[in-house]
Amino acid sequence: MAAARGEFSSRIGFVLAASGSAVGLGNIWGFPTQAASNGGGAFLVVYLILTFLLAYPTLMAEFLIGRYAKANAVPALRKVTGSLAPLGALTGYAGILTACLLLSFYAVIAGFMIVFFVATLLEAIGQNDLSEYLTARGTGVQVAFTAVFMLMTIAVICGGIKGGIERWSTRLMPSLFVLMFVLIAWVLTLDGATEGLSRYLVPDFAASLNPDLLLSAMGQSFFSLSIGVGTMLIYGSYCSKKANLVRLGMAVTVIDVGVAFLAGLLILPAMYVAATNGVQIFDESDALVSGPGMIFSVLPALFDTLGTAGLAVGGLFFLLMTIAALTSSISLLEVPVAYAVEEHGSRRVPATLAIGAAIFLASLALIIGGEWLFDLAVAVATEYSQPVLALLLCVFAGWVWRRDQILGELREGNPEIENSLFWKIWPLYVKFICPVGILTVFYNSLT
Ligand code: PHE
Repeated sequence: MAAARGEFSSRIGFVLAASGSAVGLGNIWGFPTQAASNGGGAFLVVYLILTFLLAYPTLMAEFLIGRYAKANAVPALRKVTGSLAPLGALTGYAGILTACLLLSFYAVIAGFMIVFFVATLLEAIGQNDLSEYLTARGTGVQVAFTAVFMLMTIAVICGGIKGGIERWSTRLMPSLFVLMFVLIAWVLTLDGATEGLSRYLVPDFAASLNPDLLLSAMGQSFFSLSIGVGTMLIYGSYCSKKANLVRLGMAVTVIDVGVAFLAGLLILPAMYVAATNGVQIFDESDALVSGPGMIFSVLPALFDTLGTAGLAVGGLFFLLMTIAALTSSISLLEVPVAYAVEEHGSRRVPATLAIGAAIFLASLALIIGGEWLFDLAVAVATEYSQPVLALLLCVFAGWVWRRDQILGELREGNPEIENSLFWKIWPLYVKFICPVGILTVFYNSLT
């Protein structure tokens, strides 16, 4: 098994790829709505604290295990778990399956983003009927656009680590930042935006003391940092031993949190601009519309009220969503592909095509099976599997992995680390605080 493994060619390539995985629909869609319905600025503060104190240490466990083993999740977890190797390998397999499940529904939602992007273009050239047909999202349209998105994901992964993942992440992530700033600047000039801003930023601390808020903030931060399913493990394994992983991991976390914060500056003002323009933004129970209703009806209705400018804003918005989803979906597909290539000696292109096709079939089942099956897949992957896997990773890193090996890996690319706070605190965090924190989230999702 001596085949040369790929590696990211630069630190920035690694940071953009890993933050591309982290920054996704969870940031731009999930975070702002959670913040709006859970105490605004107070949610933001809780989210920031949890991300840096709990999610970042767990992310580091995943990165370090991957870079130590220089292998995909199955052999990597076998290697660090010593006498518990079968449990380690099982965790790796469970991660691969979860990554496939996550991708099967992520691709459907991302397909909708392309639907709305194309619909906006069609409207711009006067093809209103066709545009309306697409946005009605019949089964055929869903299948076709999920296929388009899967093909894009497959095309990137066929290109490999440098020629696919790194190449596209270094192009797409900067475009995402530019789009985000342009859209924020635009939306903030519209009437009603300041009300949205205050709803987002003014903290309601009474709401932040609610234990449910703590838990949903933690769940959100784990999902957003792509923790548990082996995406960060495999990206860590492609990172050079010369890089200071502690610092790069922090950069990834800051970018992820930064984009979530910026998304709030975009989405919530946009919702209140929509309200000013007569769009209904509260549901029957007086809560702000969130979830699919927000992205697929409130925002498009807002863009409609803005005339030609609305077409441009809408087009750019759905382009932004598509880019965010693509840099996440490639990291998900890389998990099973790396396993097939490294463990079974498959060639990358046929392996990517076969696995991509199998995941597309799973997406088809979700589309045809209807909402309950779709929601079940989301819940199994994000509420159950992801926290359990993240918990196991922390237990492995904190309790099972040999201390001298962990410390040795931490020193790689960072010889001065012994004087740092990270060195003193991280091993304890990952041993005690992270497992307890994750168990608490998990317990909540069961009750
Ligand atoms: N972090 C991605 C998002 O916020 C989702 C994701 C989860 C991607 C797990 C990869 C692995 O949308």
